[in-house]
Amino acid sequence: MHTFGFPAFAQQLEYIHTLAEAKQLLTNLGERAHYILGEGSNTVFLEDFAGSVFKIAIKGISLHEHPDYYELHVGAGENWHALIEWCLARNIRGFENLALIPGTVGAAPIQNIGAYGVEIEQFIHRVEYLCLSTDELKSLSREECQFAYRDSIFKHQLAGKFVIGMVTFRLTKSWQANARYAELKELSNPSAQDIFAKVVQVRQAKLPDPKKIGNAGSFFKNPIIPLALYQQLQQRFAELPSYPVNEQQVKVPAAWLIDRLGFKGKQLNGIHCHVTQPLVLTNDGSGTGEALLTLARQIKQAVKQDFAIELENEVQLVNNQGLVHV
Ligand code: FAD
Ligand code: EPU
Repeated sequence: MHTFGFPAFAQQLEYIHTLAEAKQLLTNLGERAHYILGEGSNTVFLEDFAGSVFKIAIKGISLHEHPDYYELHVGAGENWHALIEWCLARNIRGFENLALIPGTVGAAPIQNIGAYGVEIEQFIHRVEYLCLSTDELKSLSREECQFAYRDSIFKHQLAGKFVIGMVTFRLTKSWQANARYAELKELSNPSAQDIFAKVVQVRQAKLPDPKKIGNAGSFFKNPIIPLALYQQLQQRFAELPSYPVNEQQVKVPAAWLIDRLGFKGKQLNGIHCHVTQPLVLTNDGSGTGEALLTLARQIKQAVKQDFAIELENEVQLVNNQGLVHV
């Protein structure tokens, strides 16, 4: 139930089919540790979990057509990639750049999933959730979700206090291709299906398939650093790539920093720094939570020492009691 594949056990596992069921199950917990789980593609259980896991199985897709846009109400437990295919089969376009991102619809707003020049925030109209502090059903508009790069209100003010039940998306009927990102530039006048196929092809070539090799995608976020630091680093590494953020900050690819430090292809007790994408750490089946933390800490420390950049983990790491950081 988590794509990194460590053989971890929880004390209790419950499936949640509705937010009413979530309310019933979660209010009786008391002090007991718990974890809300989608498809576990951004979660690593480092060891056995001394608490209850609630797996989100809230299903359903309903479609409402408006003159200018399609509105979709989608249950949090639906699979994200399957939703894209469902939409493309009905000529509802927009999600195609986000093809093959594993996981559920409900987890997608939490880190504002993104790839190939698109972030999910641009399609989100509302997010409905159960507030665990007040036991009330609430909803947030896109603006209220405070989306940013791999970030939202769900990682800050609402952290640990919510269960998402449904996401409402709006997709315009005046679709335009977004093919400005890296490998997509070679497509000429692409259809949504062309972009979908290309993204799938590029991702399959670069990223390990979690069904075959345990992994949780990018282990760290791409760091956003002050422009002044970037300019300093450029004097030592003229070829260091960057993406603009604002006038004071730029984003740099963590994969480049890790590659430069020579970690690519290295392994430690069954945990590997992936050969085609060093930002992805993998488990060859013999790895342990301890080995993963050790390698991740080595990488983080080396990046700090050499580039004065603090990497932040993107994945959620869960030990016996709950969330931990590298
Ligand atoms: P989980 O790992 O189950 O949960 C993630 C977090 O959300 C946890 O904190 C969990 O408690 C919480 N959560 C989940 N569902 C709910 C809910 N309904 N209510 C409240 N809390 C909930 N991400 C990208 O952005 N872009 C990529 O390109 C990308 N590529 C990836 C490639 C691979 C091979 C893998 C393995 C992962 C990749 N990811 C990527 C990360 C991952 O796919 C996303 O973070 C995804 O949204 C996780 O969904 P999930 O259902 O598996 O979440
Ligand atoms: N690079 C290297 N060596 C390598 C690979 C990459 O130096 O071996 C450098 C290159 O400069 C390359 C750059 O890293 O241009 C960026 O690489 P890539 O395009 O593969 O993307 P990324 O920045 O590493 C991000 C997301 C991915 C998302 C891709 C595509 C984060 C943390 N990761 O990766 O998301 O799929 O862009 O848009 O933002 C995830 O979140 O789990 C994830 C996989």
